[in-house]
Amino acid sequence: MITETVLPSERGIRRAAEIIKRGDVVAFPTETVYGLGANALDEAAVKKIFVAKGRPADNPLIVHISSLDMMETVAADIPAEAYKLAERFWAGPLTVVLKKSSSVPSVTSGGLDTVGIRFPSHPAAKRLIELSGVPIAAPSANLSGSPSPTTFKRVYEDMNGRVPMIINGGSCEFGVESTVVSLNNGCARILRPGAVTKEMLEQVIKNVTVDPGVLSELPEGAKVRSPGMKYKHYAPKAKVIIVAGSLEAYREYVRRHAKERDFCLLFDKSERIPGIHYLTYGSTAKEQAHRLFEALRNLDAKGAETVYARCPDASGMGLAVYNRILRSAGFNIVEAENGE
Ligand code: TXA
Ligand code: MG
Repeated sequence: MITETVLPSERGIRRAAEIIKRGDVVAFPTETVYGLGANALDEAAVKKIFVAKGRPADNPLIVHISSLDMMETVAADIPAEAYKLAERFWAGPLTVVLKKSSSVPSVTSGGLDTVGIRFPSHPAAKRLIELSGVPIAAPSANLSGSPSPTTFKRVYEDMNGRVPMIINGGSCEFGVESTVVSLNNGCARILRPGAVTKEMLEQVIKNVTVDPGVLSELPEGAKVRSPGMKYKHYAPKAKVIIVAGSLEAYREYVRRHAKERDFCLLFDKSERIPGIHYLTYGSTAKEQAHRLFEALRNLDAKGAETVYARCPDASGMGLAVYNRILRSAGFNIVEAENGE
């Protein structure tokens, strides 16, 4: 398949919308990560997404909308809290899981009777949905198992030859995928943390909890609320080990364990250890979110074998960073202590 690239101009987006309307797949930028989109209501089109990604078919897709009217066509029995969240956080990086309407085929919802809905704020994403005239189902535009693409270059690497069109929107603002929440009896549960934080959600909904699957490996046989969480995600080829503890303890641990082709994944250059390769991904949660996936892909490009990652602060938006790095490490976290 020949993959065409267009810029997010009105003309480019119009051409992309034609592809969506004819039942094909387009990779497009959003404010979180790039998405791989098709008409959410067209079963055959949605199946092409799974083929392009190489994704297991029981993993539900997020349905992207560009108006509340559209939400009402894809969801049923919408609770008042959903409208409150929509008013405060849409358009933006929040996905709300609602009961699905009969118009959404089960291939889109991964066989569930619910559907994750998101109203993206990126102008190209919004315009693409408007011009297509249909809700767009879109997972992140990476090959299944790789870190989500946050730049055009990475989407192109993964999707060239697999989809008819990519919209080149440069790099994505947030860099981690949207916050996913489900609603139950007026309470919200965070299934996947993102740029809309727990603290922000609490401004609108009194009772907000974080699903146990966000911070720990689910035990064998546990009920999975967000099926995406059971797959190995965000994984680079390198083995990632998170080393928690002070900077001194981190350095000591790494000095003792690091081999020739190993890397440090640091917040900041000042933390480097002479003689050991390193990459940085920022010292604030916002910057870390923006740069983490790109750093993981760069580590692979550099042929890193084992990566010793500094452990990010898990508060606020840091929870999203911590959740992603924890998954990329396959929950491999060591507690380093001085003098250990
Ligand atoms: O920021 C984002 O959300 C990006 C951009 C493209 O919008 N999309 C994205 O999609 O990250 P994806 O498919 O890579 O991740 C969707 C996540 C998965 O963890 C999935 O299990 C969860 O959302 N999800 C989707 N529908 C769900 C549902 N009905 N119930 C529970 N979890 C759901
Ligand atoms: Mg994904």
